Amino acid sequence: MYDNNPTIDGIKSIDESQQGSVFFKESPTPGLRRFYIESYGCQMNFSDSEIVASILGDIGYAPTRNMEESDLILINTCSIREKAEETVRKRLRVFEAYKKQKPGTVVGVLGCMAERLKKQWLEEEKLVDLVVGPDAYRDLPNLLGGAEEGNRMVNVLLSREETYSEIAPVRLDTNGITAFISIMRGCDNMCSFCVVPFTRGRERSREPFSIVAEATDLYTKGYREVTLLGQNVDSYKWDNPETGEHVDFADLLRMVAEIHPDLRVRFSTSHPKDMTDKVLHTMAAHENICKYIHLPVQSGNSRILEMMNRTYDADWYRNRMEAIRRIMPDCAVSSDIITGFCSETEEEHQDTLAMMEYAQYSMSYMFAYSERPGTLAARKYPDDIPEDIKKKRLNEVIRLQNAISQIQNKADIGKTFKVLIEGDSRKSDQDFCGRNTQNKMVVFAKKGDLKPGDYVTVTIRDATSATLLGDIV
Ligand code: SAH
Ligand code: SF4
Ligand code: F3S
Repeated sequence: MYDNNPTIDGIKSIDESQQGSVFFKESPTPGLRRFYIESYGCQMNFSDSEIVASILGDIGYAPTRNMEESDLILINTCSIREKAEETVRKRLRVFEAYKKQKPGTVVGVLGCMAERLKKQWLEEEKLVDLVVGPDAYRDLPNLLGGAEEGNRMVNVLLSREETYSEIAPVRLDTNGITAFISIMRGCDNMCSFCVVPFTRGRERSREPFSIVAEATDLYTKGYREVTLLGQNVDSYKWDNPETGEHVDFADLLRMVAEIHPDLRVRFSTSHPKDMTDKVLHTMAAHENICKYIHLPVQSGNSRILEMMNRTYDADWYRNRMEAIRRIMPDCAVSSDIITGFCSETEEEHQDTLAMMEYAQYSMSYMFAYSERPGTLAARKYPDDIPEDIKKKRLNEVIRLQNAISQIQNKADIGKTFKVLIEGDSRKSDQDFCGRNTQNKMVVFAKKGDLKPGDYVTVTIRDATSATLLGDIV
């Protein structure tokens, strides 16, 4: 659901990896109003920023990546861990300095931290003019109007229906090849550690035809890969009010996959309790549905999983892994792992390491438990694992994951993959990079008139824990 770069040397969590992603679209035009937006957190937030850009575009605001030329500064925030919130507070200090130089600037806080802290923002942060929760972006023109008249405006109403279904996102920071499509919002699970149900509200699925239309539009514009986004995509469900037809996630996957064989389909995040064999069979039946599943385990120990309220145990998780291996032997699986959850013993931590060995994840996002105010765990269980033990366990998890990734990637040497070219590699404009179906990044020398968006066949020559290196066949 977030930045897909595998971890190399440490915790590449969502808050660190996507710091300050900004964007721009065109060069400045005098007289035009401009907004500058930074997005933090998961891909849902980045996707929401594209909805915000669309709504602002309708009232004459153009995006800029240059804070110095903006009249409106927005920060789309994340509350998932304390560190994510600290990052946002630090950025506000930078905006504060800017606003001192340009006093008319409107500063708005969007997203999960806006929802969590609500009006508290106005007391805590004098520079904040706008506080807008994830379901209130349609109200932005009105809120902005109020702010421009010198009022401080707040809308943090959550909705049971809002999916921004018909709003065409303005693609920001895009490579023109891969894009994210939000298929649902909110979350109805109550994982005891997690703030998302409080910041994003109830789960609701977006009407499928608008999803297919958005993916088709992307394909005709030259995009070659879409990632369907939701906190728990496997519980996607939509009933046609006219025909009574029921569309589940497997049906939706098929509908998107059938747009064109050259349009790859990915999705994130899968919840182990809801991932069905029907989804796996649908993946297996379509070459363009990528053979990669992000299936966060969180912990390998059943007592901890129960306290986390994940509603599956370690055996259930292994059963799902076996189903994946049976139906798609070449499918890669990645995970999220939390170390040092309330009362976790050393033996229980060892169960997580054992699960990692068993699952052979291609990569993982790994975190030390961070207590979030208002969550079930914060109310029920003391946060009693000392910080140094959490970190020690986290380091063990990271070390093991790096070793597994390394072995997995070395095993790919000599294999040949179909790769979608995304653009120049980070290190050299003589090389392209792109992903194989398992979501592994492949780097290879440019050849002929190949360009981003083309598929190439690459044989792997070498590998690190993060990247495969190869040559076009
Ligand atoms: N919906 C996704 C996860 C969204 S949050 C799912 O259910 O898998 C992304 C990840 O952040 C979680 O999977 C979890 O590993 C981590 N996370 C969430 N709350 C956390 C907390 N309080 N402390 C540490 N990590 C947390
Ligand atoms: Fe949070 Fe659990 Fe929902 Fe994921 S499924 S967003 S971890 S409550
Ligand atoms: Fe963060 Fe909200 Fe996503 S808390 S992880 S931005 S849903």
